[in-house]
Amino acid sequence: MPLVNLNELFDPTRERRAVGLFNVAGLEFAEAMIEVAEELNTPIILGVPERFFQFSRLENVVRLCVDMAERARVPVAVHLDHGKSFDNILRALRNGVSSVMFDGSSLPYEENVARTAEIVRIAHTMGVSVEGELGYVGRGDFDPTDPSFYTNPEQAADFVAKTGVDALAIAVGTAHGIYKTTPKLDFERLKSIRQKVDVALVLHGGSGVSDEDFQKAIACGIDKINVFTEISVSVIKTVSEATSNCSDWIRVTGEMRRTIANVVRHYMTVFNTGLDHDCDL
Ligand code: 13P
Repeated sequence: MPLVNLNELFDPTRERRAVGLFNVAGLEFAEAMIEVAEELNTPIILGVPERFFQFSRLENVVRLCVDMAERARVPVAVHLDHGKSFDNILRALRNGVSSVMFDGSSLPYEENVARTAEIVRIAHTMGVSVEGELGYVGRGDFDPTDPSFYTNPEQAADFVAKTGVDALAIAVGTAHGIYKTTPKLDFERLKSIRQKVDVALVLHGGSGVSDEDFQKAIACGIDKINVFTEISVSVIKTVSEATSNCSDWIRVTGEMRRTIANVVRHYMTVFNTGLDHDCDL
């Protein structure tokens, strides 16, 4: 199966299912994720988070993922997640990613438009898809009561028209990391964005969202869902338990891999069953 970009993953007839992006934080992550995708015969997106490059070389992580994707039995996209640095985006492109995110969500609107459009112009010459972000899916700083965090539907249409992005990350009530209170998704806003925007819509901050809300979000127009924290928390728990009575790291990696596979399998199954739900508001 070839390495694919995001446009090759989304069904233009908008069959209601979403493709999962799972962040890679090491070899075991990528291997377990592709194994589950093959087992379920479902496409997958390996997300390479820019913040991981504080610890591992971009070239090593990207090439590892690209090589594994090219040998997978299902379509796999390798996507730079939350790219903020122009240099990192160019290095990721040079090393073979099939998709990049430029996260200009904390920039003033016009600057976000200009910088995203520039990345789109470069990436599209290489057949690489681009995801932009509008609104602000924060981490600990997300305030669900503050309307300025949320994506404005009219502005989303303007952003897509001016930048030419293939996918748009929107803020409709989710945030990255562990939620302090149960997330409450703004389905009305999501539906309104879907009506005005024709590119793939992306839900970040998937960990902690209920299965029912995922399926409703998919029915209302979400095409791609990003998950990491839930995998991270489960891996940390597994490793701390496994290392309390074992000093063989190779065995621990086996336990890690099983844990990653179990979490990813659950999400991929939920994302594939969006068809049964309506976007009834
Ligand atoms: P979580 O870590 O909250 O699941 O979010 C992942 C994400 O959105 C990566 O872009």
